Amino acid sequence: MKIRAESVSDKKAVYEINKQAFPGDDEAKLVDALRENADPIVSLVAELKGQVIGHILFSPVTLSSRPDLKLMGLAPMAVLPEFQKQGIGSKLVNESVSKCKDLEFAGIVVLGHPDYYPKFGFVPSVNFGIKCTYDVPDEAFMVLELKEGVFKAGVVSYHPEFDNL
Ligand SMILES: CC(C)(COP(=O)(O)OP(=O)(O)OC[C@H]1O[C@@H](n2cnc3c(N)ncnc32)[C@H](O)[C@@H]1OP(=O)(O)O)[C@@H](O)C(=O)NCCC(=O)NCCS
Repeated sequence: MKIRAESVSDKKAVYEINKQAFPGDDEAKLVDALRENADPIVSLVAELKGQVIGHILFSPVTLSSRPDLKLMGLAPMAVLPEFQKQGIGSKLVNESVSKCKDLEFAGIVVLGHPDYYPKFGFVPSVNFGIKCTYDVPDEAFMVLELKEGVFKAGVVSYHPEFDNL
């Protein structure tokens, strides 16, 4: 299994992965919209024997207290149902976090399962007094500093495409 950057020819497979992993096709459409309208994005796929079976996307977010920071939001990520719980999602997260570090992003935020993301170093955003614009449980919004000491209390805003979700 290898993790690599998404290429143009992966678009259909990535749509299908998101459609199958999530209850509807909202996330699949969100990926297409972010690919078109968000810049920069980090988009990686997991490939097994020539088949694309997992995908992870990052798009820029802003933190009200630190508008100077280059921050990324992890969303969405998906692994084809028949390949879940085999460590593929973890590999996607680890590789893409390294990639974001290489690209000199200061930090990453994620809205997701509070049991899943802490193993990659994410901590509850409330530890820093950080919230997002959505009404979500505190423990579901998590952050990871890639450059030490950059986070300051404030509000994170996602790309406007997320408002359609
Ligand atoms: C979230 C998601 C991407 C995770 O992908 P994944 O490949 O299943 O992730 P992993 O295999 O790394 O981890 C999943 C679980 O399997 C376990 N696991 C990892 N490797 C394993 C292995 N070899 N054998 C058995 N279990 C394993 C992990 O411990 C983890 O369990 P935990 O969360 O209780 O700790 C996937 O479940 C998915 O597509 N879900 C639907 C879409 C979604 O909700 N996306 C996230 C919100 S954006």
